[in-house]
Amino acid sequence: IQDNHRLTSKWVANYIARKINLAEPTLERPFVLGLPTGSSPLYTYHELIKLYQYGAVSFRHVVTFNMDEYVGIPKDHPQSYHTFMWDNLFNQIDILPGNVNILNGNAPDIKAECQAYEDKIKAVGGIDLFLGGIGPDGHLAFNEPGSSLASRTRDKELNYDTKLANSRFFDNDVNKVPNSSLTVGIATVMDAKEVLIIVNGYNKARALHHVVEEGVNHMWTISALQLHPRGMIVCDESATYEL
Ligand code: GLP
Repeated sequence: IQDNHRLTSKWVANYIARKINLAEPTLERPFVLGLPTGSSPLYTYHELIKLYQYGAVSFRHVVTFNMDEYVGIPKDHPQSYHTFMWDNLFNQIDILPGNVNILNGNAPDIKAECQAYEDKIKAVGGIDLFLGGIGPDGHLAFNEPGSSLASRTRDKELNYDTKLANSRFFDNDVNKVPNSSLTVGIATVMDAKEVLIIVNGYNKARALHHVVEEGVNHMWTISALQLHPRGMIVCDESATYEL
């Protein structure tokens, strides 16, 4: 628990950089990082860019897999998760474009796209560290309440609450938010060697209570973290108000 979002982000960025450095990744044995979008990781990405600029970390041998992507908007749409990741992180670090993996929400064959993503994660030896955020209803990636805790990468319809929460990025118009997404499953995330979830702000306090103090429950999909041997939550003070 850190005092505020800024400190949470600094803590997480330092942790990620330390993990990458300790792994001493190479071309043959890269460090594999799972990544989210949203406001939760945004300052963490700013801090990682700073660490890269100071020479404290390199992403040359880091392979990334993003959690999710909208279906039905072009890749270069200002609110696509592709755009978010390139604008807020990838364009400003030394990652090799070929090492970046983001689901293609416009793939002609969605099933094949999702299966190929799972296969690719397996082929690189699994994810070393999966970073995530959560929605106010405790959803992880786009695994909405009710998603199976054994789920794998697939397409998923967004529920109204998520669309409402994300409408702030679409001119505050819920009708402009895409109806569906491609998302890694809960099991895909939980397969990672380590899972680190960032939780900030009062509007996540109820979710944090469910994750930490209630049982494992598919209506609060992030609660699966309780079963992970190396599952960690880094949060700010205001997110803890219902603990
Ligand atoms: C979206 C994303 C999630 C993210 C959540 C919270 O629904 N699919 O991966 O965790 O929003 O976003 P924020 O961090 O902006 O609150």
